[in-house]
Parts: sequence; structure tokens; C-alpha cells
Amino acid sequence: MTFVHDIETAAFVAAVEPGEGRRVAAQIAPTDAPVLSLDGPWRFRLGEGLHDLTPSFGAEALDDANWDEIAVPSSWQIAGLRDADGALLPRGEWRYGAPAYTNIRYPFPVDPPAVPNENPVGEYRRRFEYPGLAEGEHAVLRFEGVDSSFSVWVNGVAVGWGTGSRLATEFDVTALIRAGENTVAVRVLQWSAATYLEDQDMWWVSGIFRSVSLRTRPVGGIDEHRIRADYDATTGEARLLVETDVPATVRIPELAVSGTAGEPIVISSVEPWTAETPRLYDAEIASPGETLRVRIGFRTLKIVDGELLVNGSPIRLRGVNRHEWHPDTGRTLDVATMLRDIELLKTHNINAVRTSHYPPDPRFLDLCDEHGLYVIDECDVETHGFVHAGWVQNPPADPRWRAAMLDRAERMLARDRNHPSVIMWSLGNEAGAGDNLQAMADLLHAGDDRPVHYEGDQNSSYVDVYSRMYAAPDEVALIGAGVEPGTPDVAADARRRRQPFLLCEYAHAMGNGPGALIDYERLFDRYPRLLGGFVWEWMDQGITQVDARGREFVAYGGDFDEALHDSTYIIDGLVFADRTPSPGLTEYAAVISPVRLTVGSDAVRVENRHDHVSLDGFELAWRVEVDGDQVASGMLALPEIGPRADADIALPILDAPALADGQQAWLTIDVVRRADADVVPAGHVVGTGQRLLAERTRTLRSATPAVAAGDGWRLGPAEIDDRGRLVSLGGRAVTTPVLDIWRALTDNDSHVEGQGARWLELGFDRMLHRTVEVVEDDGAIRVETVTGAAGVDSGFATTWVWTAVGDAVHLRVRIRPHGQFRAGIEPTTLGVAAPGPVVTLPRLGITFALDGLDDRVRWFGLGPGESYPDSRQAVRVGAHETSVAAFQTPYAHPQENGARQDVRWAEISGSEITGRSPRLRIEADESLGFTVRPWRTADLERATHAVQLEPSDRTWITLDVAQAGLGTASCGPDTLPPYWLHPQERELGVTFIVD
Ligand code: GAL
Repeated sequence: MTFVHDIETAAFVAAVEPGEGRRVAAQIAPTDAPVLSLDGPWRFRLGEGLHDLTPSFGAEALDDANWDEIAVPSSWQIAGLRDADGALLPRGEWRYGAPAYTNIRYPFPVDPPAVPNENPVGEYRRRFEYPGLAEGEHAVLRFEGVDSSFSVWVNGVAVGWGTGSRLATEFDVTALIRAGENTVAVRVLQWSAATYLEDQDMWWVSGIFRSVSLRTRPVGGIDEHRIRADYDATTGEARLLVETDVPATVRIPELAVSGTAGEPIVISSVEPWTAETPRLYDAEIASPGETLRVRIGFRTLKIVDGELLVNGSPIRLRGVNRHEWHPDTGRTLDVATMLRDIELLKTHNINAVRTSHYPPDPRFLDLCDEHGLYVIDECDVETHGFVHAGWVQNPPADPRWRAAMLDRAERMLARDRNHPSVIMWSLGNEAGAGDNLQAMADLLHAGDDRPVHYEGDQNSSYVDVYSRMYAAPDEVALIGAGVEPGTPDVAADARRRRQPFLLCEYAHAMGNGPGALIDYERLFDRYPRLLGGFVWEWMDQGITQVDARGREFVAYGGDFDEALHDSTYIIDGLVFADRTPSPGLTEYAAVISPVRLTVGSDAVRVENRHDHVSLDGFELAWRVEVDGDQVASGMLALPEIGPRADADIALPILDAPALADGQQAWLTIDVVRRADADVVPAGHVVGTGQRLLAERTRTLRSATPAVAAGDGWRLGPAEIDDRGRLVSLGGRAVTTPVLDIWRALTDNDSHVEGQGARWLELGFDRMLHRTVEVVEDDGAIRVETVTGAAGVDSGFATTWVWTAVGDAVHLRVRIRPHGQFRAGIEPTTLGVAAPGPVVTLPRLGITFALDGLDDRVRWFGLGPGESYPDSRQAVRVGAHETSVAAFQTPYAHPQENGARQDVRWAEISGSEITGRSPRLRIEADESLGFTVRPWRTADLERATHAVQLEPSDRTWITLDVAQAGLGTASCGPDTLPPYWLHPQERELGVTFIVD
């Protein structure tokens, strides 16, 4: 074979064409034809660049016995982070370069289509036995994913080269393969012209990272099959058309249906496929040479009046953007990991995945078909880095790249079109504008009837849905109502107004957040044009690493000595790197619950928010708790409530519960699964409603006078010195309470769009305290303080009143802000100050510390997890208990976390057995925010990785009047105004009881 670009020298490195010598890599189905997996150990050598290629690399006789072994599939940078036994290697000992993270910028000069000489080359070789081919048979070598360009030799002969890292590539090797031993050699370039099309926000890792197989193609085998399986919801009738490249028959035993490929088969009654009812039928497609086993889901997609209909009913997408990642294996996933994702998605009420930003491992789509998820299948195209070059030379706008871009669209279509789960094609992500994108859309429209998506088509002139990312709720409301500003092109504008709208990305789940999910959800509920959204993103793409002390930690950008990197921006998922759900995921699950409850005084309103199923599979479990203790419970059956319908269910008549002082009685109703439903187990709670039934306000204990002791006073368990400082409580040493308005900045706070910079400007993190006076006042001790930061006039005057209440002590705090609380007050040339925006507060409360209270925490209030004003749908009022350690949310990049809101009482105990009091109880006059930490806020702020946080010997307790919301400013709108915390006069009161 001859090639345009010399394969021996890897001359294709700068070629804009998609490859040579390849054939169409269509979807493969389980087959009775032989398939030989070539996964497993391969010989491996990493060259420095094209100047360092192994001569005659493809030759059979090449002696590779001394080469390393690497697992296929894997990425070499990730594999090289461990030794041959799988133990993690510390920095400096990595074997094959290192992963590198950039969001937008290319990791090399923007000089298309060229890449630099510093271009590592992975050389892979493997010998394998093959039985040989019978007359007329073919052999096809198939790669499911190789990053980036690669060339292939079989038995010493070059067969071609390919690109398109996250797409399948096939080579026909019939003429080269033989019975007995064969040699395959694959040379992979880390960088190539193709990399310009693959600038997704993710780790740069290279190699044969998905499976490799050698497929024997029998005489008369089916190389391509296409399934169209429509469902008519009005008649219940299905229409099936299977097309194949050779004559074949089709059989669905379960439906007792058979027919001929190429001819429509009408089936009078089937159960349709939806994400809520992922009904698949096993079928056989058989030619004289081969039988394929396929699974068919019948469903019809249509856009009508700005709504996307599945089987005639509008759907709502409650989605996530999913990169493929595992902290130990990188972009190589096994089926167990994919299934874990499916379980987590389904048990958190998520019904859709955008495969950001490339077609996933094909087995993931099989799982989406089987378990029921709607998929936006996105092509492997992103050229975001050209934004830093003013989009000059952007490939989508350059005809030289057209073939490569069309090739990618064609291969995605060929590989994935038979999946019922795929409801939309996406051309790619953040690739600017250009005719090549439109050409991709045309290709997909010509070959398939699914809607086409591309967020970058801002006028929606060649796509079928209006898509945006990170639009603020105000703008989404305008779009929902159809009154958004028009586009310059009148025809395009008219077309766009008839399209469904979706947020292909919103609510950036970086660190603590996102806030305001519920605000978006209310808009989705209100406007039918809003098809829903996809939270960015599914998981923290962290990498397991070890530090110099041998401790494992989650690494992010910059931890691999990258010259250019984007640090923590890769840690922005709803699940942590180890797939532990974050509070953001729990919140999302509650917000998008398919069953919403509103508990009234004698009935509960049940809204069925499913699009296709009734609530047959669910029942209601109710309980009454007094101060967190259950006093009554029962089950309630649900009547027939159809999709998108609601009903009021009468509540049982309940006796008025007996309440002690300060107690509350709550009715809690959970919507639970009656039986196992695929990966969702029986008893799983999909939604909850609560109502306060009764309460008795707390009567304050009667005051007793302070007793003079030493240089201060004793008030119940408290000792206060003559400077007004609390020095001990119940015999424990104390760090005296101070006014605290600071929180360790969240990723959202510290982003340029967030409030953090203004908070820092006003010195909220470096407040100084001045005691104005300490007086004994009517048996109580009153302390007046003033708090402010160096160089800033804004601050707070605070009155602290300590009162002994028998064997307890009560503290009442009154906080009065003073000053302007304005950022950016810079004198102008005339010496006049130009006031900047009013600055709100991160939090308002008090912080103190006690020795040794390091063990358990119990509280009555919202829980079990953390919550903030704009993220509190997942938490419930009740009594919750955990350890001090588990009270912390271990964000990979440490920041404010763990706040519990609406807390009425809390108890903290110590693990030590000494003469000291084992337990501190805090009773709030009114409910409070409550946080317990084994370290200071400053430690949390200073730590760059969670592993650096080490418990101190004190436990730090913060009691808040209020805290600011979280927002999603790390990408998207800042905390919305209703969730701001304004500097205003506020009070808090607590009783400390030690026993
Ligand atoms: C979007 C982009 C995503 C990701 C996100 C920020 O603009 O499409 O890939 O970079 O921003 O995390």
C-alpha cells in the first residue's frame, strides 16, 4: 500500500486529513463470528519525539524483549504513575511523562496544523496467535479509542493511520494476517494536527485507552446494520426497519415477529422505550454468514411547538455532563465503573447525560439503553484554544479541516445510531463558528432524524434546539416566555423561537455548590419551552497521587509540574473523584425529584413529574418526630396519578403530640419505591416533604447572679476573666468567642465573578477585635467589643451578655454594623471618594474553640448534610448524629463546608475519659447556623489539598445568625440577590450546658 503521508516517519503528524487506510467503523453488536480481544499486556517504549522513533518499528523481527510492558487499554501517563506492581510513585519517579491539565489553552503553540518537536511517541507491540482465515473471510483490526494520531503495522507491513481519539477506527488486515503467530505494532503520537480538534477541558493523556480487537468477518457477514424502531403512541403500533449491507432476516422472538432486512415490519403492539421505561427487545439479525444479537427499543422523537416529544409526550431533561474518568485509571473505564455511574445517576433522579465532550466508551451507551437515560451524544470536536488567538485559523472555519470534521460526525453516527438512548447529536463543544460545523449538521440531518445540537450556533440556524450555557435565571425566564432579544438574522430568529431551549451546561458544581438549582428548576417547571439542563459536571476529575509522606491525595492541575495548567478547575463535579456523592448531588436529586410533595394541614399534594409513567411503583411513608424522636408512623397508598398529573391525598388524623419546652414536632413524608426497580432498590427515597406540626418556644432558664472568682467571674459552668474573655467552660480550656464574618472562600466565592475579592478588600479575613468595656450589670457580665480590619472603616460593634442560668450559662450577642461596607473606595484626583458597590457578608456569627470535644456531634435542625441558603432542598429537619470527622465535607480543594442550618440544639462530645465533662450542649434561643471543625477556618483556607488538614487539639465551633448563599460564580451567575447576607443589626442567643 502506498500512503500520501509517509507512515515510517510519522509524516502524518501535521496532516489535516483524518487518516489513511481505514474503513467505516460501524456499531458492533454481539456476534457469532470470532472476535479476538487484543487487550492485555503489550510491549511498550516511549520515545521523546519524531527524532526518536524505533527504526523498522513494525518489523516482525524487531527485538522488543527488553521493552516495558503496558496494559492495553490505558493511557501511558496514568499507567506510569505506578510501578509494575501497581504502587503509586511519588513525583520525580513517574515512568512515562505525566498527565497535564488545561481548560482552554492548547498545551503547545497555536500554530496549526503543526505541533512542536517535544512530542512523546508511544510505541506498542504485541504478538498473538490467530487461527487464520478461510477462503473469502476478512480480518478487521478495530480500535475503540487511541489518543491522538496513530499508525498501525501488521506483520511488518504498514496498514494505515488514524485520528479521532474518542471514535472507533478499523483497518482491513485480511491481506496481512495469517495462521499462527502475528505481530501488530501501533505507534501513537501524543500531539498531532488532530489535537487541534480535541481541546476539551480535561486532562491531556495519551495512548491506546480503549479496547482493541481483531474481528474475523465471515463470508456474508454483516458489517453494518441500522435499526429504526418507531413507536406510535396513539395506536401503540411499532414500525421497525432494519437495514444491512448484506441480505439478512430479522427476528424478535418475544414478539413472535420476523421479517426481512430492508423491509418495514409493522408490529401491532409493543411496549415503548423511554428513559423511565427502558424496555428493550432482544432480536436477531441473521445473514447466511453471521448472526447478530441486538436489543431494540421502540421510540419516536419529534419537536413540536418548541417541545421535544418522546412517543408523543413532552420530556424534561434532568441531566449532567459526563466526562469519562477514574482517579486510578484515567480515561479508561471498566464496565463496573460505568455501571456505578448509572446507579448513582438513577438513584439521584437524573435522567439524561450529555457525553461531554466526545462519544463515550460504546458500552456506556448500551448501559444507557438498558437502564434508561436520555443521551446527547457529542462529537469529539473542540477548538476552544483558538479563542486566545481571536479565533484566527479556527479549524471549523477553514475548508482544509472539513474532511476531518465530517469524518468525525460520520463515525459517531455509524457507531451510535442504533441506541434508543441517544436522542440528540451534538456537533461538539466550544469550537467557535464556521461552515464545517454546518456541514457536520447537514451530514447528520441527511443520515438520521434525531435533532442536532451545538451551543456555538448562536442563532440556531443549522441546529434544532436553542442551547446555551450558564445563562442566568433572569435570562432563562425571558427565553422560557419567548420574549428574549432577537438574533440579527430575522429568519433564524423565527426558527429559533420555535425551538426547545436547553441549558447544555449550568450550575457549575465546583467545590461547595452549586447554589440556586431550585431557582432554575422553578423556571423549567413554568415554561414548556425549557427542555431542561445539564449540570456541569458529573465528577471531580482528580487523580490519585501520593505525597512525599506517602499519603494518598486527589491531585489536580499543577500537581504534575505542568508548565501551563488550570489548577482546580478540573475539580468541579457532583461526585468526588472516588464517586462519593457531594452535597451538590444530593441537592440536585432533591430539586429534580420526579415526585414532589407539598404537605398541607390535612392533605399532601403529590405531583407526578414523570413524563411517561404513573406513580404505581411508589408509596408514601410518613412519620411524626418530636425533637427528633419518632412517635408515630405509617404508610399511605397512592391512587393512580398519571404522568405530569397531581392529586391531594388525605393525611391521617394525628393526635397532638406532647411537647416539652423548646420542642418541635414535625411530620415527614417520604416517597419510596415499593419494589426494586432495576438499579434502584426497594425503599429508595425519591422525594420528601415536611411540615411543622407544633412547637413550644423555649423559655429561658432563670438567671442567677455571676459570682466573683479570681480576676473575673464564675457563671454556671463558665469562667470569664476581667477582660471579658471566656477562659473555661465546664473545666475545659476555651478559645474565647469572637465575632466571625469570615468563611474559607469557596471556589465560587474566589472566582473573579464571585464576592471574594470584595470581602478580602474589606479585610473580612483579618478582623481585629477591641474590648471597649467589661461590666457587671444586674448579675450578668456585659462585654462591649468593636471589630474591624486594618485600614477599613466598616466594622461591627457587638454587645455580649453572659448570664448564669443555674448550672448553665446563657450568652446573648447583639451585632451592629457601622461604616459604609463599600468596595473600591478610591480617592479621585479631586480627592473625592467614588463609592463602589455595597459589600455583603460571607457569614455573621461567632466562633470559639474548646479543648478535646473531638468525638460525636448531635443536633436538631437541618441535616444530615450541609446546607446553605441557596442549597437546602435535600436537607430535613430532625435529630442528626455523626462524628466530628464526618461532619466535614472533604472537598478535594479545601474550602468552607459543613454548615448545618436552622439548628435549635447541638451536642458535642469528647472521646477522652477524664474527669472533665464529656459533653457540651448548645441550645439556641432562635435557630442558628452551626459548624464544628477540628481545625481553624484559616487552616481550611491555607490547605491546597484535603490531605493537608490535620485535626488540632481544639474543636472550633461557629454559630451563625446567617450565611451567604453559594451561587455558581466559578462559571455562571454569582449568588442571586435573595441569598445575599447584608450587614444589618442582628442578634443571636445560646445557652451552654455542660454535663
Ligand atoms: C464550559 C465548557 C466545559 C467546562 C466548563 C467549565 O464552558 O464547555 O467544558 O470547561 O465551561 O468547567
